Amino acid sequence: LDKGVQPANLKTENLAPHTADATGELMTTNTGLKINDDQNSLKAGDRGPTLLEDFILREKITHFDHERIPERVVHARGSGAHGVFKVYESLAPVTKALFLNDTETETPVFVRFSTVAGSRGSTDLARDVRGFAVRFYTEEGNFDLVGNNMPVFFIQDAIKFPDLIHAVKPEPDNEIPQAASAHDTFWDFISLTPESAHMIMWVMSDRAIPRSYRMMEGFGVHTFRLVNAEGLSSFVKFHWKPLLGVHSVAWDEAQNISGKDPDFHRRDLWDAIDSGAFPEWELGVQIVPEEDEFKFEFDLLDPTKIIPEELVPVQRVGKMTLNRNPDNFFAETEQIAFHLGHVVPGIDFSNDPLLQGRLFSYTDTQLTRLGGPNFQEIPINRPIVPVHNNQRDGFMRQTINKGKTSYSPNAIGNNDPRQATAAEGGFVTYPERISASKVRARSKSFFDHFSQARLFLNSQSEPEKNHLTDALCFELGKVKTVAIRQRMLVFLAQIDKGLAAEVAYALGLHIPEKLDNELNQNIPADADPADYASLQV
Ligand code: HEM
Repeated sequence: LDKGVQPANLKTENLAPHTADATGELMTTNTGLKINDDQNSLKAGDRGPTLLEDFILREKITHFDHERIPERVVHARGSGAHGVFKVYESLAPVTKALFLNDTETETPVFVRFSTVAGSRGSTDLARDVRGFAVRFYTEEGNFDLVGNNMPVFFIQDAIKFPDLIHAVKPEPDNEIPQAASAHDTFWDFISLTPESAHMIMWVMSDRAIPRSYRMMEGFGVHTFRLVNAEGLSSFVKFHWKPLLGVHSVAWDEAQNISGKDPDFHRRDLWDAIDSGAFPEWELGVQIVPEEDEFKFEFDLLDPTKIIPEELVPVQRVGKMTLNRNPDNFFAETEQIAFHLGHVVPGIDFSNDPLLQGRLFSYTDTQLTRLGGPNFQEIPINRPIVPVHNNQRDGFMRQTINKGKTSYSPNAIGNNDPRQATAAEGGFVTYPERISASKVRARSKSFFDHFSQARLFLNSQSEPEKNHLTDALCFELGKVKTVAIRQRMLVFLAQIDKGLAAEVAYALGLHIPEKLDNELNQNIPADADPADYASLQV
């Protein structure tokens, strides 16, 4: 376990029996047979041919042939680290989650930072959103806070996620470009998706090219629910505030670094932890009492909106320290399976339609990525508490469950788990009252797409605003289809006419007076016509 300055914690101790160190050991096959020669295959005579009998050759090559698994469908490139979290003061008044109640408990965490669009081998410095996924290994099970380094998202409904990602990923015919920068498919989609306006301002800002993972904020994005021991609920937005402050690089620096060291962020995180300069973040919460749900001009369930900190301040409630590098990238960083459905009592979901769709997507994709239903048994995914249920079998099952029965209720077995009462820590879903008709629709309260985009733009300092404008000019300058550029100018004019005019000038175009028929085509079926009527300058 000795890793110099890097301390162990409950989770790294839990991983220890699964780790292997071959220093000074004799080489064996996977069945434990000692190997005498692993450098020459078995041949008929020293000039061959190679014999099919050579089980040592076959085992070595077969294992190699199957080393790769699918990369994540999004967030493929990432870097991970172990660490710990401690709450400053008990949050018992708002949540019964034990790891947020007990100021003595040091909760182990594993964090994975990522880019979204690039493949596993892409550059760290792409203009892109960064994933900020945190797993807390709590005494009540794993809690995953699967967030990003930006507080809002491109779309309001998970059903649009495959479209967004198909638009942002490399184009299907030639797989160009790798990074999330400048191409027709992405800007085509955005120009037809007014709900993306706020996120586009963030993505074109310096936030999209961080100086270091250690210098990024993190956000849970959605509104979640907290529930206390009396069953009282409040809404919450989660934040991570880096103690090193928020820093970015300029776009030309990013391009330079990408050429010279595409692993820049990965190396920076690894080296900092290796040398004992442990990065730290404070956990922040914005709490909204249940009765204040409708007091805002925006909808708390809309993931394209922030709660301005002037309205609800961020309270800093605890600290996370990343203090230990993984032993093995594949076993830990690649095989970890985050899911915002991994909750503990005291934390619950809201009805944000993006959140609701994510609750389905993560486990579903991991069934493919990690080869079937037993991926929670992979060491990095195991909770630090025991697991007992009636789930059985499947490819690669590790646990040897004892007893004759694997069902409930049953009166035969003496080895069967019993359901936990709420007092024993059993998870009870918050009994929110719902009375509604089934409709495939979007609430009108989600339709103000431009006010917060403008608010963000106006919060930028002069140099930051210049970077943002330059980024739009660069990106849209790479778009080949003139109609897309024009639609984007109309789109930008809804946020700020001055911004649109500057971009139009750089592109050598005029902002169209209104959306003509050609520009108007493909307006999504779910768009509010009123929304598009406003897309007239
Ligand atoms: C992966 C964040 C929206 C599907 C990830 C990861 C993060 C993340 C941080 C990487 C996790 C890791 O490091 O392993 C977010 C945020 C979202 C969002 C903050 C919006 C607020 C969505 C939506 C969907 C989705 C709407 C689908 C409906 C996925 C999938 C993966 C992923 C399939 C790959 C998971 C894996 O292979 O383990 N997301 N995401 N995400 N996300 Fe999201």
